[in-house]
Amino acid sequence: MPVDFNQVSTPSFVLDESLLKKNLKLIQYVAQTADVKIIMALKGFAMYSVFPIINKYVPATTASSVNEARLAFEEFGEEVHAYAPAYLEDEIEQWMHYCSHLTFNSFNQYNKYIERFKASDKKIACGMRINPEYAEVSTDLYNPCVPGSRLGIRAKEFGEYLPDGITGLHFHTLCESNSYSLEKTLKVVEEKFGHLLQQCAWVNFGGGHLITQKDYNVEHLIGVLKAFKERYPHLEVIMEPGAAFAWETGYLVSTVQDVFESDGIQSVLLDVSVAAHMPDCIEMPYTPKILGVDLAKAGEKRTRIGGTSCLAGDYVGDYYFPEGVQIGQKLVFNDMMHYTMVKTTFFNGVKHPDIAIWHEDSSYEVVKRFGYEEFKAKLS
Ligand SMILES: Cc1ncc(COP(=O)(O)O)c(C=O)c1O
Repeated sequence: MPVDFNQVSTPSFVLDESLLKKNLKLIQYVAQTADVKIIMALKGFAMYSVFPIINKYVPATTASSVNEARLAFEEFGEEVHAYAPAYLEDEIEQWMHYCSHLTFNSFNQYNKYIERFKASDKKIACGMRINPEYAEVSTDLYNPCVPGSRLGIRAKEFGEYLPDGITGLHFHTLCESNSYSLEKTLKVVEEKFGHLLQQCAWVNFGGGHLITQKDYNVEHLIGVLKAFKERYPHLEVIMEPGAAFAWETGYLVSTVQDVFESDGIQSVLLDVSVAAHMPDCIEMPYTPKILGVDLAKAGEKRTRIGGTSCLAGDYVGDYYFPEGVQIGQKLVFNDMMHYTMVKTTFFNGVKHPDIAIWHEDSSYEVVKRFGYEEFKAKLS
């Protein structure tokens, strides 16, 4: 049964368990058919109450901070991969404790810690992040290959050989991309770094593979992966998407608090904040879908949906409500699981949405409710 929004008190993030499982099954199918390892990036989705479901389908996770690494280690499982642009001196022991794989952004960073790895009883697989200087990403904010990028090592900076102790290479150049972008990227990576791939035991293709999006050509991806593995049979291939796991698996449910006219535009105020609860809508930017409501077209009466913070730009966009919109009406933002909960803030101290699950058996569970204590805990 689809989510019964009548049961949902707002504001609330609601994950639909059956939609999550649908994504997990597809991701597992790709991993098994292409014989690659697909791990989940916590930066995109870290709802640990459902980790016991996810780790039935997925063997490992990847982290971008010690906090994520610890959460992954304690709540998901002991195989934790990691990449961070810089590993801090006072955190490196923790990184080593929680992680099985560590990827470095520069030779400086690797050389700083190499003796620690050699001295450690724990054998950690160390890798280098490369910058192939090729990315099919139109938004510079998400493009790690822009000129002057601080992310990854360019081919000309590498010699003929991998540094001592390095067993893998990692690139991350995709963003909500398809398999054709991966195919073109691999061509460049192989041209520039093929000799180094020959020396590796593993390669990580990063994130940005939107495998679970409805138009994604999964069979083409499997073909690309199998062909790559034929060229490099000695390599373990790892992919670490985040968004794809939670893509279209849930909602942010809100209630209209006020409706009024402002310069000929109908203004709607909600009990959620765009800036605090769905910041990617402002950063990326994009206009999210609201169930049953279309975006306003030219000539249509505009209803501007705004959030509850004081930020003037705290609104998502202009929509058209043929039947009008009422105070007390619920509005349901679609596809609000990835890069939302992990990015929320307590800006203005506004009420933080609950985190809830609509289970497969149609039961509704509020997993977490936030209050004053959580707001206060972040300040001092
Ligand atoms: C290094 C790395 N790996 C994985 C990901 C996950 O990417 P996505 O959630 O777009 O699949 C990111 C996202 O920024 C990343 O920077």
